Amino acid sequence: MTDVPLNGHALLDFNTPLSDGKAHDLINSLHLRPGATVVDYGCGWAELLLRAVEHEPNARGLGVDSDEYAITRGRANVEARGLASRVTLDLADVTTWAAEPADVVISIGASHAWGGTKQTLEAMHARLRPGGTLLLGDGFWEQPPNARSAEIFGEDGFGTLAELVDLAMTCGYRLLNLATATLDEWDSFESRWCASRERWLLDHPDHPQADEVRAIVDDHRDGWLKGYRDHFGLAYLTLARL
Ligand SMILES: C[S@@+](CC[C@H](N)C(=O)[O-])C[C@H]1O[C@@H](n2cnc3c(N)ncnc32)[C@H](O)[C@@H]1O
Repeated sequence: MTDVPLNGHALLDFNTPLSDGKAHDLINSLHLRPGATVVDYGCGWAELLLRAVEHEPNARGLGVDSDEYAITRGRANVEARGLASRVTLDLADVTTWAAEPADVVISIGASHAWGGTKQTLEAMHARLRPGGTLLLGDGFWEQPPNARSAEIFGEDGFGTLAELVDLAMTCGYRLLNLATATLDEWDSFESRWCASRERWLLDHPDHPQADEVRAIVDDHRDGWLKGYRDHFGLAYLTLARL
């Protein structure tokens, strides 16, 4: 579907199940200090990073993502919100992109880039200064996976919420704050994911790839409603790096 002129994330504020209120709470949990450097690995269009540096006007933000559309959208927002002197967004692979150890790092929904949660915790540990803070957004099973969920997210990649927190402790962190995506946040996220495409289909009913797009939405909606809804969770852990 690479050639379809479709912005599949057009109606999303974040590319993760996250409300405005929870985003605000997560940023508060970071206790950003004046002059802090915040690095977001797998930032998407960097909405959370931009809100973080708006929250602490003397903070500096760096974001990196390999999705050109996302970085282009993020850069436009940086300009529009007057943040160009404090925020840089790079188009790159997070695993090869280098930066100085930061005061705060963010990794939300991007653990697959590093090979899993443990590898992400280790990579972020190496990219934080001692005493720095990691905001990790990662999956866990609210309930044991049904067949469809296991097909989508794999059998072995995720554990329970307690196991996720224990893993962070064994990787050299202490827990400062825990939040999880609510069912409302999930439903809003998945609805908007689907509606971005449904609206495109309404505007392009005769596009040669309309059937392909419709099939993708149908498959996604089935995976959500018949598979992982109420089973797969998304945790936001604010972690102190030892
Ligand atoms: C689920 S999205 C989350 C985006 C963002 N953190 C947010 O919360 O809105 C995961 C992001 O990780 C990015 N990503 C995945 N693998 C990557 C890699 N190897 N290098 C850079 N970005 C990567 C994807 O392009 C995508 O934007």
